[in-house]
Amino acid sequence: MSNEKEQVFQSIFEQMAQYGHEQVIFNYDKTTGLKAIIAIHDTTLGPALGGCRMWPYENEQAALTDALRLSRGMTYKCAVAGVTHGGGKTVIIGDPKTDKSDELFQALGTFVETLKGRYYTGTDVGTVGMDFVSATKQSKYLVGLPEEYGGSGNSAIITAFGALQAIKATAKEAFGRDYLAGLTIAVQGLGKVGSDLVGRLHAEGVKLIVTDVNEDSVRRVKSEYPDIEVVAPEEIFGVECDIFSPNALGACINDETIPQFKCRAICGAANNVLAQPRHGDVLHEKGILYAPDYVGNAGGLIQVADELQGYNKERAFKNASLIYDIMLQIFEIAKKDNIPTYKAADLMIDRRIETIGRLSRKFRGK
Ligand code: NAI
Repeated sequence: MSNEKEQVFQSIFEQMAQYGHEQVIFNYDKTTGLKAIIAIHDTTLGPALGGCRMWPYENEQAALTDALRLSRGMTYKCAVAGVTHGGGKTVIIGDPKTDKSDELFQALGTFVETLKGRYYTGTDVGTVGMDFVSATKQSKYLVGLPEEYGGSGNSAIITAFGALQAIKATAKEAFGRDYLAGLTIAVQGLGKVGSDLVGRLHAEGVKLIVTDVNEDSVRRVKSEYPDIEVVAPEEIFGVECDIFSPNALGACINDETIPQFKCRAICGAANNVLAQPRHGDVLHEKGILYAPDYVGNAGGLIQVADELQGYNKERAFKNASLIYDIMLQIFEIAKKDNIPTYKAADLMIDRRIETIGRLSRKFRGK
């Protein structure tokens, strides 16, 4: 093996060791051209669960980094949601607009099947329920299928419902009340989750300021709720509001946006909103209450995990309503230990994983 190859090999293990990943599997299928990485972070709580992202990554390292980062996030999300799963994630290197085929997802299914239930996957950015209908021809370890194929269907609705519970808890902590009427909330992103959340907030009597880079989405929401205020995408960070709610893409809390914020709290459904963990510290120092993203957006995960028990919508929504209590517990830990909320969430979850891990090792007789 050349030095260069050795370097790459070592660096992958170093990357796995950094956050304690258990397993990384590189999958290549020569007939379909599938290039997929499955990362399994931690299976202490149960088999890994996490969606499959398809993206035209610039290079293999970028794909690996994404798989490692996202699978670790899933461990935390599973633990916080109280589901008996660990964190995993798949990334497919490819353009979802041009590179998809039934065979490609069947090929993915063959690899998922070889893990024999150690890992379940389903939709994420760049993939849709029908892709996994293809994968089910080769594997039974798939979730997030369309309703007509026995799945739980669109997870954006329950995600928005969960985000609303998180916003209520955030309001309770920041303003001493969990009814939202009269508060001003700025919503970034009016996609599947954001548009549903806007409807729920509107029904609660919230004054809404919204934005999206997609003008059609803005038009659709504005025609349904004519009294909401629309601003340009770059203006949303600086509007006067009580709560800023990110529901677009990640990394929107960064060195550029933090100085603009005039809100008292931040809570939404978008994933990975802190550009870097240190931005959570900056929010803490500035007295802006940050509701950890993977708690607020756990609704979708709760739905797909429920699907594995035979989907029961009422049960899934009941579990998603617990996001309110979980968020309040995190705020409590943050106050007690005087630490930023993102650290309090991680602390609570690390303790939970350790406790459950210990329980599952208990000797129960023969
Ligand atoms: P989506 O793709 O339907 O919506 C995203 C929206 O954000 C689009 O309308 C897009 O035009 C807009 N957007 C992108 N960049 C923007 C910017 N700079 N400024 C304003 N708007 C911008 O995605 P979806 O499903 O609504 O997800 C939204 C967020 O919630 C994502 O971060 C996703 O990872 C997260 N999430 C979604 C779940 C689900 O079940 N759909 C579950 C958990 C988290």
